[in-house]
Amino acid sequence: MNNSEQSLSGISNRQLPSELVTGHAVIDHEHQLLLDYILRLREICDDHDASRVTCGGCSPTLISECESRLVGILGDLLAYILDHFRNEENIMRDSLLLAIERETGEAHMEDHAAISSKVQEIVTNLETPKTIQRVRELEELLLRWVTSHISLHDMLLVRWLEREDNPIRLRALASA
Ligand SMILES: [Fe+2]
Ligand SMILES: [Fe+2]
Repeated sequence: MNNSEQSLSGISNRQLPSELVTGHAVIDHEHQLLLDYILRLREICDDHDASRVTCGGCSPTLISECESRLVGILGDLLAYILDHFRNEENIMRDSLLLAIERETGEAHMEDHAAISSKVQEIVTNLETPKTIQRVRELEELLLRWVTSHISLHDMLLVRWLEREDNPIRLRALASA
């Protein structure tokens, strides 16, 4: 577990660990929303026992409550993921990252596609009595995303936007 994962495993509020703050207001705000989803997922299983892999021992009523909460979160999460990735990819296009630093942009978009398809796979594999197992998988995926994806791909995107020779900055200077 790296430093960011350690800080995130103990999150009790929506604050991103400082090492994951990119400095881009919109992107950071959207990443903070992601932390909300992680916290909401954790709340599904009240005792949050990480070793628990099935819903054995829980009553059918409790299991169906957990499932409906999970389905509600998943619907919001999928919409959030599509929105957030689209926003970042629009920023890549507008800032000409995809034209000038093509490999960097493509690797970023490929990771978006991998994360989206993994979340979709978890959604389609939902089955009682493994609800809690799916919740743990999803939580693990989101933590990996928050730590490795943001610290690599999203940071590179924001560093590109901040570069002196970034076409958007040059255009803004030229029209000033
Ligand atoms: Fe990204
Ligand atoms: Fe992001």
